[in-house]
Amino acid sequence: MRIGIIGSGNIGGTLARLLAGAGHDVVIANSRGPESLAGLVAELGDRATAATPAGAAAAGEVVIVAIPFTKYTELPATALAGRIVVDANNDWSGAGGGELSSSEVIAATMPGAVVVKAFNTIHYAHLREQGTPAGTPGRRAIPIAGDDAAAKATVAALIDEIGFDVYDVGSLADGRRIEPGSPAFNVGLTRDEIAAALARTSPGNR
Ligand SMILES: NC(=O)c1ccc[n+]([C@@H]2O[C@H](COP(=O)([O-])OP(=O)(O)OC[C@H]3O[C@@H](n4cnc5c(N)ncnc54)[C@H](OP(=O)(O)O)[C@@H]3O)[C@@H](O)[C@H]2O)c1
Repeated sequence: MRIGIIGSGNIGGTLARLLAGAGHDVVIANSRGPESLAGLVAELGDRATAATPAGAAAAGEVVIVAIPFTKYTELPATALAGRIVVDANNDWSGAGGGELSSSEVIAATMPGAVVVKAFNTIHYAHLREQGTPAGTPGRRAIPIAGDDAAAKATVAALIDEIGFDVYDVGSLADGRRIEPGSPAFNVGLTRDEIAAALARTSPGNR
């Protein structure tokens, strides 16, 4: 699959490495332009190319967004229409207002994109190091949220390929339950352990 990645930092760079390693073609972008990504692309090999954010959005069937949340208004909304957009971001700034999940805030700026919240709960170093094959006892799970079952299945398959189980928390609005402050945030839990931890909290938990 061709996967666009907007944001080449801790999370975007780590996902580029893992997904290229799993055999996907990754098209990666940052704020400074494709030339600035020459080193990363060379390191990742033939499966990686650099582009502008609009180029990465246009190239990918799935487009991962991993940028500082406050920059979401700069995303290439037109090019993201028709794409599965994976929102890995966390709103530490409060700029999203707090009533909606931060993924709903982002989704509202990109009509025609199908947004799935994923990877926001896991530290990039754990993402890089803690993946294990399917069926491994105690395998860590990554929670996801979204309104489109097919898009969630696509994202879940990618997560499995790079070493993690998936816990589906529900709709994009339910994504609030896996934002900072959640018992599922930045902890190494299995799918069943995430379910148990979230069951102990109210649906409005943040
Ligand atoms: N760090 C973690 O472990 C972690 C875990 C889960 C979720 N997150 C979330 O993931 C997001 C990214 O975090 P990070 O730690 O990966 O950040 P980071 O290392 O600072 O990287 C941010 C990336 O976003 C790019 N960027 C900034 N503005 C952009 C724009 N307008 N268009 C395109 N690219 C842009 C930057 O490009 P330049 O380098 O060119 O400036 C950089 O490549 C944040 O929302 C964070 O809350 C982080």
